[in-house]
Amino acid sequence: MHLTRDEERIFDGESGWANQICMKILVRLGELFNATRLIPIASAHVSGVSYKTLGDAPADFLEALANAGAKSNANSTLNPHSIDEGYIAKKLPADLCKKQSAILEFYQRMGLKHSLTCTPYYLEKFKSGSHLAWAESSAVVYANSVLEAYTNREGGPSSLAASIIGKTPDYGIHRAENRQPQVLVNVEARLRDETEFGALGILLGRVLADKIPIIQGLENASEGSLKQLSAALASTGMVNMFYRKNAVAKTAKLERLSVEAADIKQTVEDLTTTSTEKPDLVFVGCPHCSQDEMKQIADSVGSGKVKENMEIWVCTSRCVKAKAAKYVRQLEQSGIHVLTDTCPVVTWTDKLGIRTIMTNSAKTAHYAPTLNNAETVLAPSKDCVRAAIKG
Ligand code: F3S
Repeated sequence: MHLTRDEERIFDGESGWANQICMKILVRLGELFNATRLIPIASAHVSGVSYKTLGDAPADFLEALANAGAKSNANSTLNPHSIDEGYIAKKLPADLCKKQSAILEFYQRMGLKHSLTCTPYYLEKFKSGSHLAWAESSAVVYANSVLEAYTNREGGPSSLAASIIGKTPDYGIHRAENRQPQVLVNVEARLRDETEFGALGILLGRVLADKIPIIQGLENASEGSLKQLSAALASTGMVNMFYRKNAVAKTAKLERLSVEAADIKQTVEDLTTTSTEKPDLVFVGCPHCSQDEMKQIADSVGSGKVKENMEIWVCTSRCVKAKAAKYVRQLEQSGIHVLTDTCPVVTWTDKLGIRTIMTNSAKTAHYAPTLNNAETVLAPSKDCVRAAIKG
């Protein structure tokens, strides 16, 4: 890999251990994938924030970096962690909250904003063609496919290294030649809601592995549905982007695949592991809700109230929560908990006594049986609201 003089100096340790180790992570990664240079990034989105998923050894590494004076050199955001200060923190053991707070402090000392959301694209607009180093898989697929930005699927360490150095190795889908579609997918079913778009993602992730598809039949997809598709696609496969109809001219030589209504129905059924009508938790907000979605949920709730002994969480970012204050007030008056900074998957729902989760997110329904030890019901947002709200 060719390094500039300044990059070489960092690599040789002239600007300290923290910068050196971060440069070494990026160079090693670049060499593995035959990158020839580092390129500047418009944003780094760093995962590895939740103590539940991170554990102690990586937290020690973050502390060592912070103690060594590591400082972010890029516009950087953080993925969700395991706690909402106003609600979940009060219900969890103090030692877990303390360890989580320490991780946030390490990031803060390194200059990373406490955005704590998996939808960094609602905080800031990125130009088409921007090079990013994002680690949240749902946001990676969304960024490449909907925002038309360029990012590989980074891990926690490589996204943090990119944030500290301000650059990423130029390989994978940063390069136009690696963004060519390989499969033409024809969705023959008319997908009716965000849950079915999520189911499509789960299904395609499994069969495509890492092949880039053009997906025909997404004409009626809302921004929220494309977000569900992106999140689910990344959950079951290594695909980092998709094209929509007409995005690419030549399709004659592509492998072909068709998806029928029965495939979608089967996938939704497979993601539902219990038939309970009274789940312990109803959850909307994976990936974190947009302002539009907050409005839609508020419209579905109307003047209704949460049923007795029912728990409903709507998860979003601090930024969207502030902008959607009117809807947040309405939801909170109904008894809904509007949480920021976290989600059920990255917190300890089992310690909160939650054994069944009803959600509109195919991604959550995919992960909850293993990461939350919970049974799942997958249904559109309006049905989730109906299950939890009376009146
Ligand atoms: Fe975000 Fe949690 Fe889903 S981090 S993408 S809401 S699993």
